[in-house]
Amino acid sequence: MKVSVLAETLIGSEIIKIAGEVNQMKAKGAQIANLTIGDFDAQLYPIPAELQSNIVDAYADFQTNYPPADGVLTLRESVSDFLKSRMGLDYAAKNEILISGGSRPLIYATYLALIDAGDKVVFPAPSWNNNHYVHLLGAHGISVATQPENNFMPTAAELKPHLKGASLLALCSPLNPTGTMFSEQGLREICELVIAENKSRTAGEKPLYILYDQIYAQLTFGEHQHVDPVTLFPELRDYTVFIDGSSKCFAATGVRVGWGFGPAEIIDKMKAIVGHMGAWAPKAEQVAMAKYLKDTLAVDTYLGDFKTRIQNSLDTLYKGINALKNEGFAVDAIEPMGAIYLTLKIDYLGKSTPEGEVLKSSIDLNFYLIKEANIALVPFSAFGTNDMCWYRASVGACSADEIAAKIPQLKEALAKLK
Ligand SMILES: Cc1ncc(COP(=O)(O)O)c(C=O)c1O
Repeated sequence: MKVSVLAETLIGSEIIKIAGEVNQMKAKGAQIANLTIGDFDAQLYPIPAELQSNIVDAYADFQTNYPPADGVLTLRESVSDFLKSRMGLDYAAKNEILISGGSRPLIYATYLALIDAGDKVVFPAPSWNNNHYVHLLGAHGISVATQPENNFMPTAAELKPHLKGASLLALCSPLNPTGTMFSEQGLREICELVIAENKSRTAGEKPLYILYDQIYAQLTFGEHQHVDPVTLFPELRDYTVFIDGSSKCFAATGVRVGWGFGPAEIIDKMKAIVGHMGAWAPKAEQVAMAKYLKDTLAVDTYLGDFKTRIQNSLDTLYKGINALKNEGFAVDAIEPMGAIYLTLKIDYLGKSTPEGEVLKSSIDLNFYLIKEANIALVPFSAFGTNDMCWYRASVGACSADEIAAKIPQLKEALAKLK
């Protein structure tokens, strides 16, 4: 059947493919630790109880019509207060904040509002979905490879050669897939490049914008502090669109309430784009989230417990991998700093399984581990990198105990590779 060139050439989510395979094996009774999808097991990590009852109340209160195009005003007000009190960011409910059905429509709307076909968009690899948004826009994507020694965060030196004439720099911290974050100095140096690039452009030229995805900003661990471009350099306010929302910090991926914020003129265009897609968040969920965000005690209590448990799971996996490394296995991991992800290395490409099958790619190794160790990961190649021996482990769907129980199985499976 003939479809558009865009549809013909669109790549579906690689992660959803792997997760589909895992679910099929689970349906056949396999006990698989599903460390693939960036989601939560709702039994392990339910949404906040207050949010849940607010949602039920909102439906009982007939909050079931079209919401306003930029989101329910009380929610924009709550988001504005939330940003101010938790991050010191000053964005007006009136015209600088936009609500949508989760954060994805906001990312797409940012691209659509700022990028023309052929425009240069710079993003790090690995990163989440920028390659797909670039494809949807017909933009000229420049994927900049990052390095394990920098925790796979992009550096100013890596980005610098690519910023001349670019329209968008897409950044994310804490980063999906790595669970690592910008240091203040690291982000500062990148921001300085953006400021210098914009100073070099004429008044009529499109500037270099930053898309700053901070959806995991509330999920940071230990001494790691979230930083953002506008707090570091207020002059970047005119050039930065933030992506944020409730999906990850409140384990509310299915509730679908995201928020973006930035310069009023851009937010206004994004509002029209989201409106044409009809990608609003359901009104009842918006009303409920508005009330929940105002309940500072409930939010603090939830985040405190949630972060402790996620960090415990990440640490369990991190320590397990390090123990295998110390025993001489060709594995490694990067200290978890934020989000729900651990970056780990499993360096067995080219080795053979007991059946004599050579593991030619990270995908082969991943499927071997699914079958032999009952552990499912996502290779970094699903996040726009070349094939390499690095993987993302997402801990939202497994308890720390389940994760700990898988380490011996991983060890056994790796020991069989020759
Ligand atoms: C970095 C990042 N931004 C945005 C999103 C999208 O979130 P939502 O489920 O609210 O659309 C995700 C989801 O995985 C993500 O990892």
